[in-house]
Amino acid sequence: MNQQVISIQNITKTVTTGGKEKNLEILHGVSLTANQGEFLSIVGPSGSGKSTLLHCMSGLSKPTSGSVTILGVDPYKLRPAKSAIFRRTQVGFIFQSYNLIPALPAFDNIVLPLRLSRKKVDEQKIDQLLKDINFNADPANFVTALSGGERQKVAIARVLVSNCRVIFADEPTGALDSVSGKIIFGLLRDLTKQGVCVVMVTHDIEMAAHTDRAITLRDGQLRQILDKPNAQELFEALNAEKK
Ligand SMILES: Nc1ncnc2c1ncn2[C@@H]1O[C@H](COP(=O)(O)OP(=O)(O)O)[C@@H](O)[C@H]1O
Ligand SMILES: [Mg+2]
Repeated sequence: MNQQVISIQNITKTVTTGGKEKNLEILHGVSLTANQGEFLSIVGPSGSGKSTLLHCMSGLSKPTSGSVTILGVDPYKLRPAKSAIFRRTQVGFIFQSYNLIPALPAFDNIVLPLRLSRKKVDEQKIDQLLKDINFNADPANFVTALSGGERQKVAIARVLVSNCRVIFADEPTGALDSVSGKIIFGLLRDLTKQGVCVVMVTHDIEMAAHTDRAITLRDGQLRQILDKPNAQELFEALNAEKK
């Protein structure tokens, strides 16, 4: 179970800002790999480039230089139609309300990738999953009628039913109460046991301490790689990053 599924080599990301400094380099050459069945966490101070890194490594935002390979594929070299299929079938994204469709009910948002891939929709299984993650709203409600936490759960449920092989999650439990957060972490952990690779940005040291490997980021650079991190190590690594 240690086949490499993600590899990023020396990626940089420069954005154009409206401010004085026109071109701002946010990532300064980050290299990293992740394996099948691995739960990898990315931690670091706010503004250190975590979300930018996750977007670049997940195929959503092309790095300015460097290479990205997911499941042997360069996601930035796929033609649009292939890219859509790749994203729908192989990769799951849990980004703050990313790509939820406001004009559709919560339930339809969850099953959309399955329907687009003409896969069977097991309504009972989805109802049970929603119960499991304490989704207390009506799945027939439009996404716009849901709270931030409930939307987050819709985005999570959609990924959990999708059978994807790699999941990218940006603060997936950020908008949730701690009980829901723990449940969702447990479900992601179960997926890694089935061979799914999960890459998660988190502020939550306790949660990162239960992942297989944590990397710390500061000022757009990878600083430390902690195998089987514990909370104390993470706390120290993060405090070192603040100095
Ligand atoms: N499109 C953008 N234009 C200008 N600055 C950006 C852009 N995206 C991110 N940044 C800046 O890059 C830095 C890293 O951002 P981000 O990746 O969101 O950090 P994190 O997720 O660790 O909080 C921040 O200082 C942010 O303001
Ligand atoms: Mg962020």
